[in-house]
Amino acid sequence: MENVRVDLGEDTYTVHIERGLFENLPLHLEAFARGRRTAVITDTHVADLYGNSLCRAMKSAGMETKCIVIQAGEGHKNMDTLAQVYASLAAMDISRNDLILTLGGGVVGDAGGFAAATYLRGIPFAQVPTSIIAQVDSSVGGKVGIDLQSGKNQVGAFYQPKAVYIDPQLLDTLPRRCFRDGMGEVVKYGAVCDAELFEILERSEPNALDWTGIIRRCVQAKAAIVEDDVYDKGRRMLLNFGHTFGHAVERYYGYGTYMHGEAVAVGMVRVTARTECLELTEPGTAKRLEKLLRQYNLPVDVDGADEDIFSFVKRDKKRRGKDMTLAIIDRIGRGRLLPVACEEVKNYLRRSV
Ligand code: GLY
Repeated sequence: MENVRVDLGEDTYTVHIERGLFENLPLHLEAFARGRRTAVITDTHVADLYGNSLCRAMKSAGMETKCIVIQAGEGHKNMDTLAQVYASLAAMDISRNDLILTLGGGVVGDAGGFAAATYLRGIPFAQVPTSIIAQVDSSVGGKVGIDLQSGKNQVGAFYQPKAVYIDPQLLDTLPRRCFRDGMGEVVKYGAVCDAELFEILERSEPNALDWTGIIRRCVQAKAAIVEDDVYDKGRRMLLNFGHTFGHAVERYYGYGTYMHGEAVAVGMVRVTARTECLELTEPGTAKRLEKLLRQYNLPVDVDGADEDIFSFVKRDKKRRGKDMTLAIIDRIGRGRLLPVACEEVKNYLRRSV
């Protein structure tokens, strides 16, 4: 078992990482689920694969458990789903002494976590992430929320889980495209803060990755960043590398056309090619990034006109008045925040010729 501690004072918790951990999850949960009702929030994909069996196992272990199944997909990370979850929690008579377990990818973790943060002003919750993005990034650090029509994650909270349980074996059932999606975020961690991870990815066969090791490296990096800047006012914004253009790509093409990690891949190349031209980044970095992303079958550009895509940049949460903060890299493994006037930002995102 590889444990990573996220040290946040009274909100401190442990991220447990172990292949095969899921089979023994009721045992792991026993300490804080016994004597409490547990609402397992999952989605229509994960319920059949893991959710129903987990609920059965927890009941067999004597825990009072019920599954709340939401529709799968980013399109359902919304108010309707949240209302459905609140209604189910009320029907279960969940109280602040009880427990919520989110079992699924980023949508389940974010929406279920937000329900946990807000129902009765907060129910303790634990995350059991099942996708790469959720295992390497979103299950750790307490960002929870839902999307609005006007933008991703526009309603949310910082609400830390009591524990995170990561079983890399659960990735074995992921569709190929979800692998690409997750790799976008893994490459981001290498590019922003872990040059050795980047090199490991460069010399690895895409089909033979040591997932436990990769997840541990990303979670350690995430824990260090969150410990330093839990409320996303400084260093945590480095994790937005590639996201300014990436979020705009997701919205311009419609959610699901480019998956999050694919859009982030395009965004990382865009901004790095520009900062390299502007002599803010070591020469050759954009090409190296592009090569690695291609190695993992990720897109490195989109065909939409810059100006059309740019119209979706302005609603980005990273905007502060007339300025916004852009995450860039000086070189592989070293991210940096660059304050940029909003009207200047396009200059950092346009296609380099
Ligand atoms: N996913 C980026 C963050 O947690 O800050």
